[in-house]
Amino acid sequence: MPSPIQPVLDQIALDMQSRTDRGHVADYIPELARVAPSHFAISVVTAGGNVFGAGDISTGFSAQSITKVFTLAIALGRSGDQLWQRVGREPSGNAFNSIVQLENENGRPRNPFVNAGAIVTTDEVLAGRAPKQALAEIIGFVRAAAEDSDIHINEAVARSEQSLGHRNFALAHFLAAHDNLRNAPEMTLGTYFHQCAIELTTTQLARAGRFLMGGTEGPRLVSQPRVRRMNALMLTCGHYDGSGDFAFRVGLPAKSGVGGGILAIVPGVASIAVWSPGLDENGNSKLGTEALERLAREMDWSIF
Ligand code: DON
Repeated sequence: MPSPIQPVLDQIALDMQSRTDRGHVADYIPELARVAPSHFAISVVTAGGNVFGAGDISTGFSAQSITKVFTLAIALGRSGDQLWQRVGREPSGNAFNSIVQLENENGRPRNPFVNAGAIVTTDEVLAGRAPKQALAEIIGFVRAAAEDSDIHINEAVARSEQSLGHRNFALAHFLAAHDNLRNAPEMTLGTYFHQCAIELTTTQLARAGRFLMGGTEGPRLVSQPRVRRMNALMLTCGHYDGSGDFAFRVGLPAKSGVGGGILAIVPGVASIAVWSPGLDENGNSKLGTEALERLAREMDWSIF
């Protein structure tokens, strides 16, 4: 019997094509503001290793905050539970780049997915290394996860964010003021901006997410207990202040990025990547979320 997944993806991509209410493309990183909002792509890799996709599945996009999942895996592999002394595990209820929360909580970020927490996580990966080495490790992890060496950092995007990343500089210096940064703020941020500028297609991202699916498909980069914990963090914190609404509507652990991508995991069943550059008010892909909501409903995929 042919899989029902492909026709469902085809229909979703077709319907999304004609939508006019596509949200707003991120413009605080000038290079991202140039991306056409008309793009839409969705890819699924199943536990059995089958790959399905529809839309612009061969066009690369900026992974941005989705890369926080990969640096978290590396940092946990390196430091284990010690990381939790530097960053919490609670949903933030605030914007991804909130400064006020970091001050109220004495420089210990709420979780590893808000920017402050991700900067601490990247700082942990960087400790004892040059930024070039740390970046080689991060891109190496993503390529290994996807089993695809054709994944790269977009220098123009990294530089574009670096030149105007004032909020992240504020966060990093505030972390340093609270003795929660091991490297110079400029070094950690340089690494963080380059990590965020990793570019991949939805096919590559869905493949890179296989290690979070559990089961036997793809390389086993992280132990099963850690996979469970990472999925718990994705469910509760992966969409920032929109995490509750995303769990309500989609019911899957997922991580978004301001490039308009979302990586979602159906534990033991599938890894899904979707991309539509227009964002909602929380900085999460508007049509990407809708597409996942439909796919989850039609495939009866939910962790609940
Ligand atoms: O630090 C930033 O603001 C960006 N490099 C990443 C933010 C992001 O992707 C938030 N996610 N929706």
